[in-house]
Amino acid sequence: MRIDIITCLPSLLESPFSASILKRAIDKGLVTVEIHDLRAYSTDKHKSIDDYPFGGGAGMVMSIEPIDGCISALKSQRDYDEIIYMTPDGERFSQRIANELSLKGNIIILCGHYKGIDERARQMFVTREISIGDYVLSGGELAAAVVSDAIIRLLPGVLSDETSALTDSFQDNLLAPPVYTRPAEYKGLKVPEVLLSGHEQKISEWRFEQAIKRTKERRPDLLAD
Ligand code: ADE
Repeated sequence: MRIDIITCLPSLLESPFSASILKRAIDKGLVTVEIHDLRAYSTDKHKSIDDYPFGGGAGMVMSIEPIDGCISALKSQRDYDEIIYMTPDGERFSQRIANELSLKGNIIILCGHYKGIDERARQMFVTREISIGDYVLSGGELAAAVVSDAIIRLLPGVLSDETSALTDSFQDNLLAPPVYTRPAEYKGLKVPEVLLSGHEQKISEWRFEQAIKRTKERRPDLLAD
């Protein structure tokens, strides 16, 4: 899989891909992540990428020309399955969408800033608009990192134990059950006996019951779905 991220603040996207699981996935060649500096596609001498909004009002709007320049350059090199714009007025991101996107070949993620991008750039290029929640971030970069992380960890070979993504919270509309490691007793708090029993079927029944219990208590809306 290949993810091209377009941003006017590339430094914001350096660290998420340079550690842990995402770095390993890139190093192993399971995913290519390229960060593109929108400013490199600016068409004016000041390298600006935004301008005042027509009709007045506070804030700047990201101009269409550099966005067109960057996306057109990428599209001339390969086909893209989705061009995603990160925006608080997009479709709410979920595990279902992460699963869906993890099956794609090439995607572009466009990060907005200021008051957003010129509406015509959305009309011309964007195939999908995603929000990571009902709050406003300073820009789409952290949201793009969240979406990329959720996708990349699902790619075959990224997690060492293939089943561990399948048992994540949300994969079956259930929250994950509690987990424990050594010591078996800590300051009087004991690990549930069944987990020490070695009885695989009983352990998996217990985990399922706990997942249902936790979901009922914390996210009854998931069970209603
Ligand atoms: N850009 C600003 N806020 C955002 C959000 N909540 N989700 C995605 N992109 C954003």
